[in-house]
Amino acid sequence: MTFQLTKHETATKAEMYSHLAAQFRSLLEGERDLIANAANVASLLYHSLPDLNWAGFYLFKKGELVLGPFQGEPACVRIAMGKGVCGTAAEIRQTVVVPNVHDFPGHIACDSKSNSEIVVPLIKDQQLIGVLDLDSPLPGRFDDEDARGLNELAEIFVAMSDKL
Ligand code: SME
Repeated sequence: MTFQLTKHETATKAEMYSHLAAQFRSLLEGERDLIANAANVASLLYHSLPDLNWAGFYLFKKGELVLGPFQGEPACVRIAMGKGVCGTAAEIRQTVVVPNVHDFPGHIACDSKSNSEIVVPLIKDQQLIGVLDLDSPLPGRFDDEDARGLNELAEIFVAMSDKL
């Protein structure tokens, strides 16, 4: 497989996400294994988006979120539904943007470098399959444009991967 990783630091967010959507389609094409695709997605996001210290997945298993493929420092393994930013996004099935994690009640601090966070729920056939979680050392790193862009990327990932 040949795959060209490109950095987008000078592009607008909209351009960056549209380019990433094309990269997702080419990276995931021909492979439907969810873990393999999640691993490649975590790597692509971590190495492409600026100012991240963690990018990865928690997968919904037996009523809780369990750590999946990621890039960054080791993280907490299990998160109960409704707990932390991940458990909240999973429970309400909506993207949660947290400009300052220290102000989020119940935030689970896995990496002390994280100051802001975004969590996108992953839904396939109306079922929760997990969440995509990105952390940044910069306060206020994620906004509505990131939420829109990452939701589109999450939809591509879900559509191109089979359930576990
Ligand atoms: N901060 C998350 C936990 C996961 S780590 O950020 C990798 C939370 O509050 O759910």
